[in-house]
Amino acid sequence: MTKILSVVGARPNFMKIAPFVRAIEEYNNLNGDRQIMHILVHTGQHYDIRMSGSFFASLGIPDPDVNLEVGSGSHSEQVGQTMIAIEKVLLKERPDWLVVVGDVNATLACSVAAKKLGIKVCHIEAGLRSGDMSMPEEINRLVTDRLSDLLLTPDTISSENLRKEGMPEKSIVFVGNIMIDTLEENREKAAALQIKNIIGNNLVDGFSFDADSFDESRYALMTIHRPSNVDEKEVFGPLTGFLINEVSTRLPLVWPIHPRARKNLERFGLWEQVRDNANILMLEPLGYQEMLRMNMGAAVMLTDSGGLQEECCVLGTPCLTLRWNTERPVTLKEFGGAGVLVGNNVSRIREEFLNTLAGESVPLRPELWDGNTARRCVEAIVNFR
Ligand code: UD1
Repeated sequence: MTKILSVVGARPNFMKIAPFVRAIEEYNNLNGDRQIMHILVHTGQHYDIRMSGSFFASLGIPDPDVNLEVGSGSHSEQVGQTMIAIEKVLLKERPDWLVVVGDVNATLACSVAAKKLGIKVCHIEAGLRSGDMSMPEEINRLVTDRLSDLLLTPDTISSENLRKEGMPEKSIVFVGNIMIDTLEENREKAAALQIKNIIGNNLVDGFSFDADSFDESRYALMTIHRPSNVDEKEVFGPLTGFLINEVSTRLPLVWPIHPRARKNLERFGLWEQVRDNANILMLEPLGYQEMLRMNMGAAVMLTDSGGLQEECCVLGTPCLTLRWNTERPVTLKEFGGAGVLVGNNVSRIREEFLNTLAGESVPLRPELWDGNTARRCVEAIVNFR
């Protein structure tokens, strides 16, 4: 028997763990029950129903066996509290493997705690590199990968990054993108949802929506939450001005708002300007299928999310990435994808926004983004010697 303890903490982890949990169940069904014993831990970094609970229900993830309830705080507070709490769980459970996904604080904290206890670490979505050390996620990726015994990569560029860093060949296994398993699993369910219902049901208080005049074939979709975009008024102010003056004047802008961005819009006195614009439809954070449906129908996506960049690539939604660099180059136009890096400078965003509205974009499926990645992850773990 192999005992695996896997960890989730923040929203982007849930769509990565869902197929992994299912693949373990499949493995046990095929190979005799309880070949793999699995324990799921939620660190509690995200805790709102719309940032966490709703994903467990809609993606069929079982309730976590343990919730560490670390909540919000500075990075060191989050990482420190997670390490203290997970160490107790690891000492009690003594798993053969700790499996972490993505690049959030939970990923880092749990890998360090496990490695110090001599527990093998497996990182799903290993090898991504933005080269930007001002991003907390880049630090999380570097440390986690350095400590991991098994590095499961989403694309060959990431495998190559790890080789360049001197990671041993036997630790690197190219498995594909696990998030695309979730996309494929949910595509039909999402397609059955009505865009106008999603908007109407999730509109933030104070915003209005005229469903009769809304054209479902022509809207922009936007998400923003990176500290580098939303934490300073000098950056978030002009970006918001661009959305009001140049995006919403051309087509309706649907904007599911992240709690960090919302707090900062309010703090910087920008909230009213956004609310008073009839062509900006501010939504509460959306569930997985709702967001997928909105992405499928969008004329253009403006986002600083890595996961959405990847989903746009597979769906063929033109994607303006509101960052200066990306750890996911495979999604960019130069690699055949639907994405362009535009940073957070308004004149650069304007130029690409106008190009994008005028251009065409087609779906691209990088190698092994085929919906079967989770199965390959489980096999890589059980076959590891
Ligand atoms: C975290 C991840 C980021 C990921 C993002 C997706 C790290 C370093 N960052 O950033 O990689 O892209 O999640 O959302 O791990 N809050 C709530 N409710 C919640 C959670 C947070 O209101 O359920 C508010 C709190 O005020 C909190 C703020 O959002 O302080 C930021 O949350 P936090 O988890 O610190 O980071 P994110 O910006 O969400």
